[in-house]
Amino acid sequence: MSAETARHPKAGWNSKKSLWGLALSPLVVTVTAQTSMAAEAHRVSFGQLDGGPVEAVVLTNSAGMKARIIAYGAALQELDVPDRGGHLSDVVLSYPDMSGFLRKPQYFGSTVGRYANRIAKGTFTLDGRRYSVPVNDGANSLHGGTRGFDKVLWTISHLGSGPEASATFTYVSPDGEQGYPGELTVSVTYALNERNELITRYRATTTKPTVVNVTNHSYFNLGGASSGRDVLGEWLTIFADRYTPVDSGLIPTGKIVSVAGTPFDFRAPHPIGERIHDAAEAQLVLGRGYDHNFVLNGGATAEPKLAARLEDRRSGRVMELLTTEPGVQFYSGNFLDGIAVGKGGYLYRQSDALCLEPQHFPDTPNQPAFPSARLDPGQVYRHVTIYRFNVGPPAT
Ligand code: GLA
Repeated sequence: MSAETARHPKAGWNSKKSLWGLALSPLVVTVTAQTSMAAEAHRVSFGQLDGGPVEAVVLTNSAGMKARIIAYGAALQELDVPDRGGHLSDVVLSYPDMSGFLRKPQYFGSTVGRYANRIAKGTFTLDGRRYSVPVNDGANSLHGGTRGFDKVLWTISHLGSGPEASATFTYVSPDGEQGYPGELTVSVTYALNERNELITRYRATTTKPTVVNVTNHSYFNLGGASSGRDVLGEWLTIFADRYTPVDSGLIPTGKIVSVAGTPFDFRAPHPIGERIHDAAEAQLVLGRGYDHNFVLNGGATAEPKLAARLEDRRSGRVMELLTTEPGVQFYSGNFLDGIAVGKGGYLYRQSDALCLEPQHFPDTPNQPAFPSARLDPGQVYRHVTIYRFNVGPPAT
């Protein structure tokens, strides 16, 4: 049974009817609940890299949710989520095997860093010293450079099962790697609990003052990654009164402007496609759609706060994004141009998915007015993001 058609036996949790329209008897529900497992983590194989194994971890919960994270790029490669009727679909774009990741890197589900998003002209100054990092996106450096955290093999350092299943991936980035100062010891823990929350917890320490901005680059389509429907009909809310406009290289201009009266106003839910073709909005022209950092109203927080909500009103799937980070990059899949063939031989095209990347603002190392991304020895970088899945009422 494929992920598209699979239906978990406990899927009646959100609907009164089974797949065939029969009412679930209370007895069945009770028995299922008594025998339900805790969330579990399993180590599996994902292929080879330079003659060595690439391992993965599969996290499952008793509602049928499943997340597969591969050690290459500590990347979320599969995420099966129930819809309103309990049917599971894989809601993230990715490759079926290692060859895709190596041939056409697209940051599918990857952990990106050391500095997620762009650094203008691949250079910044810290404590009076100028650093150069690789330029790999026009004139700028993107997602940590030519060999960022998405292109290295992480070590699976911990697995846990119980009320939440979890897996920790660790990487030690040497001092000077990709031009960044300080040896950075970074880890990301993915955890899946029984409330259908996938949680990512990042931690990093450094041996020298440096800059850090680590996030996850999943491409979501709540209708299903190979459903044949793009995301332009999905409804998005972003809890941001302001955003950071960009120049033609997608570097923030430094201004922080109001979303009011613009296609960037997602404070109430809007279908993603509703205003995306509005060429009168110069920022949409520069981004070829949405590719902008939104300034979250809560700022940087110790505990995750609600940042965004994505709804697919057809399947009923809802994803709430909660984060400790001050910003979120909303990217509407503008550069997906049919070069990537993903899981199931499905050709990914523009707007087949969107990314919501919690982060510090792009180019912060060159923008003193933005919340600082500096990390000093003795400090601990922490970032927590929660992807909370739920179902909404039937579309009217
Ligand atoms: C981020 C950037 C986009 C694009 C994607 C990767 O979201 O903001 O411009 O580079 O990563 O394709």
